[in-house]
Amino acid sequence: MAMRKTPACLLFWEFVHAEISRTQALDQRVVNNSLYSGHAAEAFGLRWRRWPSSIWASSMAFSGPLPKPLMVHHANFLVEKAPSADPSPKVAQLLQLREAVLRDNKDAQTAWEEFMQAARKSPAMLDYRSRHFGDRRPGPEWSTLPEDHIARPGGYSERAAKKAAAAAAKQEGSDATDIARTA
Ligand SMILES: *[C@@H]1O[C@H](CO)[C@@H](O)[C@H](O)[C@H]1NC(C)=O
Repeated sequence: MAMRKTPACLLFWEFVHAEISRTQALDQRVVNNSLYSGHAAEAFGLRWRRWPSSIWASSMAFSGPLPKPLMVHHANFLVEKAPSADPSPKVAQLLQLREAVLRDNKDAQTAWEEFMQAARKSPAMLDYRSRHFGDRRPGPEWSTLPEDHIARPGGYSERAAKKAAAAAAKQEGSDATDIARTA
């Protein structure tokens, strides 16, 4: 993240602070909802952009190949969960990527390719994406995204989903009874 101390930027972060204090919501969620819904631009005149993908993070293995050139690697995702107090798996990831990209080491390239594929299938990754960008994302529509973008709709409610599941189960139960009756 890079920011300038502009009036819009200060107003935005004051809003984020107040909103987190009020709702105890996850900081990233408050920030993303305000930015992607267009609220930050409308309410505070905040202008913002994302870094180009050459500023890369391992969680981005999900959405595409390694960028060329690769300027920065942020080791924010591991396939095997590790205790947060132990930096060694992330350091190993950084070293492996350095071998693969800068030293053209074939073994490291194969291992890296395996990591990329495993990241795309990781249940933790799929769950995270569905809750934060996908069909289980609560919150406002992210109307700054293209119409067909998976993260755009939002509006998910756990309570409504439970109700719908219970209604479907009940319906299935009564269908089964009807079938038993006709049989
Ligand atoms: C917020 O948006 C950024 C940039 O798109 C993304 O990397 C991050 O995972 C998002 N976090 C949440 C909780 O939505």
